[in-house]
Amino acid sequence: MTAATFNNCLPAARIRTDDEALVRYGRDRTTSFVADPCVVLLPETTDEVVRIVEAANRDRVGLVPSGGRTGLSGGAVAGTGQAVVSLERMNRVLEISAADRLVTCQAGVITQVLQATAEQAGLFYPVDFASSGSSFIGGNIATNAGGIRVIRYGMTRDWVAGLKVVTGTGDVLDLNHGLVKNNTGYDLRHLFIGSEGTLGFVVEATMRLARPPEAQRVLVLAVPRLDDLMRVLETFQSAVDLSAFEFFSELALGRVLAHGRGQRPFATPSPFYALLEFDASADDKAVTAFEACIAANVATDGVLSQSDAQMQSLWALRENISESLAQEKPYKNDIAVRISDVPDFLREVDTLVKSRYPDVEVAWYGHIGDGNLHLNILKPAALSEPEFVDRCHHISPELFALVQARNGSISAEHGVGLLKRDFLGYSRAPEEIAAMRAMKTLFDPNGILNPGKLL
Ligand code: MLT
Ligand code: ZN
Repeated sequence: MTAATFNNCLPAARIRTDDEALVRYGRDRTTSFVADPCVVLLPETTDEVVRIVEAANRDRVGLVPSGGRTGLSGGAVAGTGQAVVSLERMNRVLEISAADRLVTCQAGVITQVLQATAEQAGLFYPVDFASSGSSFIGGNIATNAGGIRVIRYGMTRDWVAGLKVVTGTGDVLDLNHGLVKNNTGYDLRHLFIGSEGTLGFVVEATMRLARPPEAQRVLVLAVPRLDDLMRVLETFQSAVDLSAFEFFSELALGRVLAHGRGQRPFATPSPFYALLEFDASADDKAVTAFEACIAANVATDGVLSQSDAQMQSLWALRENISESLAQEKPYKNDIAVRISDVPDFLREVDTLVKSRYPDVEVAWYGHIGDGNLHLNILKPAALSEPEFVDRCHHISPELFALVQARNGSISAEHGVGLLKRDFLGYSRAPEEIAAMRAMKTLFDPNGILNPGKLL
């Protein structure tokens, strides 16, 4: 395949074949896949995306949609001879309507820009995560991004009121038009959300906005045992409306501190920590819940933010974990079970790892209030990298069998991409996968969209 396929789609300056572009745009944050695209295309309009799709169908070139490339499942890694289509030039906020509480923007708008735009209009876009400074709204939609406030606000899907997509046949679908109520049959919008670029390109989105929340408080608690985390959650949930309930282990915190990205919250280390966020007006109730946790010995210490700056620095302890672990290339897993299953599931996973792989260390963290755990296994110094990768490949099926036994998800919020494609059957029934394949054939009959991902 050559870049010449796309000569009539875009001006030459936006068809890049230089090494710098191929390396930069060819991959996301996963490190275990080789990227080898032949060209990077930078469309500025929906028409240009349509022309790219038509040319790709004619010459049967695989197209890899590319947003902020912050993904962790290889969904934006381009294989040999494939063309990367970066949406970064389609980065305009098109319209904001305070009356409708809606903002319409192109796919390449950075999440933080969307959040700031909402704020300027006296509104609030609540979906948030550590990579919001680089991720694009189009990518968030394609992967149904979650993050730190799902417990209160849900996932990206819950905020999409309208969607413009270019399908794999080059059709432009303008879906739902920002309506609140629209019961006119199948809601195709939801097929494209979380489809990881396998059915179409998200080119524009109309996102719902909320009333800004009142001032928030952050509380970090020392939690002695993994088991106690859900007791802490129950105690607080019955007292206050939580905006976040995160957890992390001392091992994960240690990496953040070692990189100078935060300060220890209490003098005495604790095996685990819970980070809670809630409305400042619920302070008194939160203090009572805290005292109940101390009395029950499910928490041993706590620090409550007294200022915005302290709130940010407490959040940094959790949000900087991923970046602080990245250079160690941990074996990452992003799994979920029902909240009521979390305590037993945690015990099972902990037992599996400790009994079968006693020499590995797990940096636990995640959005445990949503039932979502991030399990990052660190390479023991004595193991070579290939030995470690091989070891982890043995852990995956055993871990996913535990997930399957509880009807859980092998990918709670990071998507399937290349990383989990071969394991999809642990979370989706054969009939579901067959239906997904049928949809793929309908919207992308020649299989040009993000080939090899998800299915
Ligand atoms: C997080 O919660 O920090 C992100 O999902 C990234 C990660 O899991 O590494
Ligand atoms: Zn996460």
